[in-house]
Amino acid sequence: MSRFLRLFEPLSRNCGSWTKKLAEGPSLEAFIANSSVPRENYDPTEVPYLIDESAQLKKVFFEVYGCQMNVNDTEIVWSILKKKGYERVLNHNAANVVLIMTCSIREGAEQKIWRRLQDLRKHKQRRDLQVGVLGCMAERLKTQLLEKEKSVDVVAGPDSYRDLPRLLETASGGQAGVNVQLSLDETYADVTPVRLDERRKTAFVSIMRGCNNMCTYCIVPFTRGRERSRPMNSILDEVRHLSLNGVKEVTLLGQNVNSYRDMSEESHPFIRFTDVGLAKGFKSKCKLRSGGLGFADLLHQVAEVDPEMRVRFTSPHPKDFPDEVLQVISSHKNICNHIHLPAQSGSTRVLDLMGRGYTREDYLTLVDTIYKFMPNVSLTSDFITGFCGETEDEHQMTLSLVEQVGYTFCYAFPYSLREKTRAHRRLEDDVPLEDKKRRAIEILEVFRRKAKLKFEKQIGDIQTVLVEGESKRSTEELFGRNEGNTKVIIANEVGGERIHPGEYVSVRITNCSSQTMIGEVLRKTSLQSSTDEEEKRQMIL
Ligand code: 5AD
Ligand code: SF4
Repeated sequence: MSRFLRLFEPLSRNCGSWTKKLAEGPSLEAFIANSSVPRENYDPTEVPYLIDESAQLKKVFFEVYGCQMNVNDTEIVWSILKKKGYERVLNHNAANVVLIMTCSIREGAEQKIWRRLQDLRKHKQRRDLQVGVLGCMAERLKTQLLEKEKSVDVVAGPDSYRDLPRLLETASGGQAGVNVQLSLDETYADVTPVRLDERRKTAFVSIMRGCNNMCTYCIVPFTRGRERSRPMNSILDEVRHLSLNGVKEVTLLGQNVNSYRDMSEESHPFIRFTDVGLAKGFKSKCKLRSGGLGFADLLHQVAEVDPEMRVRFTSPHPKDFPDEVLQVISSHKNICNHIHLPAQSGSTRVLDLMGRGYTREDYLTLVDTIYKFMPNVSLTSDFITGFCGETEDEHQMTLSLVEQVGYTFCYAFPYSLREKTRAHRRLEDDVPLEDKKRRAIEILEVFRRKAKLKFEKQIGDIQTVLVEGESKRSTEELFGRNEGNTKVIIANEVGGERIHPGEYVSVRITNCSSQTMIGEVLRKTSLQSSTDEEEKRQMIL
């Protein structure tokens, strides 16, 4: 039954003459034509009296688990619900709708959400509450969620957020609202995300969704579907909007962010880098798309929007780093000299089993090329430990790769078997959990030791820091990040003048640990007024 009919249902059931009068009266079209909404702006999903009726009392609380993409997806969901009249609350006890944005990448992430759902079941017994499970876990476990966890009212996969208002309404009628249909073209290009914390000076912008790589361990291609890119113009509009609202740093997001490709005709005049392929030596397991506007061009266009706005991106795949992308990064002051370069393993045999499409040597050659373009680059990475059949020697290869590259940050994840993946079907998860965990700790130890050495060498350097907020340690201190994305702790004033989030400051590094630096603020600055290197020279003179 349509939303419109549902609204009039009690009326028509109880009073036959009303049905007749309604049928004889002005049509819905006539009603809309005479309303205050201009006809050209009429959107059938936005009939005002329906919005008020259905959403008046809906107070929504969001809980976000997993990656940055999930944060941005929640902002898309919030934008969709806000338009329908929902109110957001920051305390779940004040909510009558709790929406959980979920992650399926590892077993542990899912366990956490199952526990949370059990918790929410108790709340539901005490009061009127709708619980919705969104995102990857919804996609992967739809029936289980409804059968095992009776507290779930709505299940919405990553491509069905536009349908959420209807799903919530269905749930209000006592039936579960479910939509886990994946799409080949949904990018939410026309939805302007509403940021969860609008005071923040940093923001995320999704540029593509899904992944075609099919790394053998990874559930993402199954939960988030095929790769698709958002048209460049809508990305640039969003970046301009953020810049006008005082945002000083955007992070472009995608599961495979650097395989971005906009094939639309409007993008053609902006193509500078034609026939850009893969990084040297790398193979693609999926069909390579040629033509159109690629990541190098998009990065260039985004960086040009506002020279005082920093640009970052995550998460890339090493295969999609042709020289053109490195050239664009190194030639723009506002594109940060930081590359997250997930290696996953330092052993060519394990990389082959993982289906990564490169060898240890290809990866190291790419690292050398990156250092040639950007000698001061910060590299960070992801590793999986104890993947099917990984031996101690192969793990040692990973440790030696971490040592050789000298990352400033690494994640190390014990391998977690995921159903449906190729590794689940073809390989054996045979490394004991204790070994997986120990190997992960060993990777972290090597990266921390190397990172500390790197940071110690930077003591005395002058760096530009974007201030983000109050430091956790003290209200007298602020924290920000340098280009390499390392946290820098600073005082909250310089020369008697208060420093605010969103300002750039020139900082002399005075101390460091393996993960944080301490700095002395010299002055407020702008991104374009000086580079770190220039400042270093000025200090020497
Ligand atoms: N087990 C452990 N880690 C995984 N990742 C992806 N799939 C798995 C898995 N099944 C890690 C990879 C990826 C990061 C986002 O999560 O390192 O880069
Ligand atoms: Fe998963 Fe590999 Fe795609 Fe990353 S590139 S999302 S690890 S399949």
